[in-house]
Amino acid sequence: MPTRHIVAPVAELPPGSRKIVRVGSREIGVFNVQGEFYALRNLCPHRSGPLCLGRVRPLVVTAGLFELAHEREGEILKCPWHQWEFDIKTGRALYDPDLRVKTYKVQQEGDEVVLYA
Ligand code: FES
Repeated sequence: MPTRHIVAPVAELPPGSRKIVRVGSREIGVFNVQGEFYALRNLCPHRSGPLCLGRVRPLVVTAGLFELAHEREGEILKCPWHQWEFDIKTGRALYDPDLRVKTYKVQQEGDEVVLYA
């Protein structure tokens, strides 16, 4: 049964920011993506790297031959160890949707960001 943890005042986690918190033996990254909060375990399913320390990026797509475009700005998390990319909103790996990092419920409650883990 998840328990309730106050992560931070909302003002301390503006869009584009993150905070890594410890809950028991787990580290969990809380991300603000365009005003919505998401939480992922800071443990990459590939080789257990510190996923939540990675760069936050847009999704890079090909718009045609020699054409690249960016979509979903700030929604993709790139693991710092081997550069695997994950969808922050779902925890799924981009190249293999069956592979995912553990996600947790997190939401704004009044002036606080609250995590259930
Ligand atoms: S440990 Fe994250 S991509 Fe390898």
